[in-house]
Parts: sequence; C-alpha cells; structure tokens
Amino acid sequence: MAQPIYVFDAYGTLFDVHAAIARHRAAAGPDADRFSDTWRQKQLEYTWTLTLAGRYVEFWALTERALDFAFGRFPSVNRSLKPQLLDAYFTLDAFADAKAALARLKQAGHKTAILSNGSPKMLAAAVTGSALDGVLDAVLSVDVLRFYKPRPEVYALVTAHFACAPDEVMFVSSNRWDVMGAVAVGFRGLWVNRANNPDEYADFAPIRTVADLAALPI
Ligand code: LAC
Repeated sequence: MAQPIYVFDAYGTLFDVHAAIARHRAAAGPDADRFSDTWRQKQLEYTWTLTLAGRYVEFWALTERALDFAFGRFPSVNRSLKPQLLDAYFTLDAFADAKAALARLKQAGHKTAILSNGSPKMLAAAVTGSALDGVLDAVLSVDVLRFYKPRPEVYALVTAHFACAPDEVMFVSSNRWDVMGAVAVGFRGLWVNRANNPDEYADFAPIRTVADLAALPI
C-alpha cells in the first residue's frame, strides 16, 4: 500500500482552541475555563444543528455567535474582552507538538493536509501565524460544500484532492466524533486523546489512540 496521506483536523488537533482564553486568562477571571469550554461546545453545536437543518453559516460567524452565548452564560467574564478574544482565535496558537510532527511526516515522505470546518480565511491566518505553510501540502475547508463535518461529503474532499482511496488516508483528530466521521467513510483514524477522555463511537474505532502528536508517524 502507498505511504498514507496524513490529514489533520485543525481546531483542537493542530490549533489549541483554549489558547485564546489562555492569552487573556487573568482578565477573564475565575470562570475562564468553563467559559472557554462553553464557547467551543456551542461553536460545534451550531455546526451540527445548522447542517441537520440544511443551512450554512460560515465558521467564523458561528465562532462569534458562540462567544456571545458564552458571555451571556458567564456574566463574570467582561464583554469588553470580545475583540481581543476574537483576534486571538483568528490567529490561534498551534500546539507545541504540531509543527515538529508535521515536519517529521514530511521528512518521512508523507503528504500532509488539513481538513477543517474553519473558513479559508481563518485557516490561512492560523496556518501562517504558526508558520505551518511549509509542512502542509493542502488546506481543505468545508466552505466549498457549505455544510459541516461529519457529513461524508466533507471527508470526500480529501480523496478527491489527492485522487486516492479512502484507506490511504490516515485521519488525525482530537475530536472523537470527527474520527468517527472519517472512519465511517473508510479512512484510517488516529485519535489524539489530549484530554484523556473515555472512548466512544465503538463501532467506528481508530486504528490507534495517542496522547499527543509526538507519536507521529505511527
Ligand atoms: C475543525 C473542527 C472540528 O477544525 O475543530 O474541523
């Protein structure tokens, strides 16, 4: 079989969704972590509910709406932080292990890509901000389809782009539901269980679970 193509989820896998609040933790106050969790959960919920309803609003707008919800839910966090938090999310920090893992994969001869719900502008800003351009062969966004993961058509963007078979793709995500979507279309799944969560979606198992990206390539 050909060398697997390593395809990464962006938010939560290469980029730390809690890095925005981390940059402003002192100003955000004691509810900072719960605020950040709610921001992320609502952002994802909106992708799922809109996709089920047959509607599309791009990921940046959903990120802002989810942030507004989090401010409503946690009044202790000062709303004046909104512009700074959005700025920080736009150029979100990569995890410390992301660039080295991508570089090792490239050195080993693998192709690498991102497949993300993020809008092309957000992804470009995050990729450039963390200097990942040189270690990625493609950055693919759901935006061309106008619906979100885990619709199977989203994962098919990868096989269309690389003109490859599904089992040539090693799909790497820290979101277990995203691994489920990838495995459902025949990709090999690699779950990055950074948060040490219990397993789920047992019918759609990854071939391996790792704690972080230091284990790549497997
Ligand atoms: C993404 C979301 C799922 O980057 O984090 O696609």
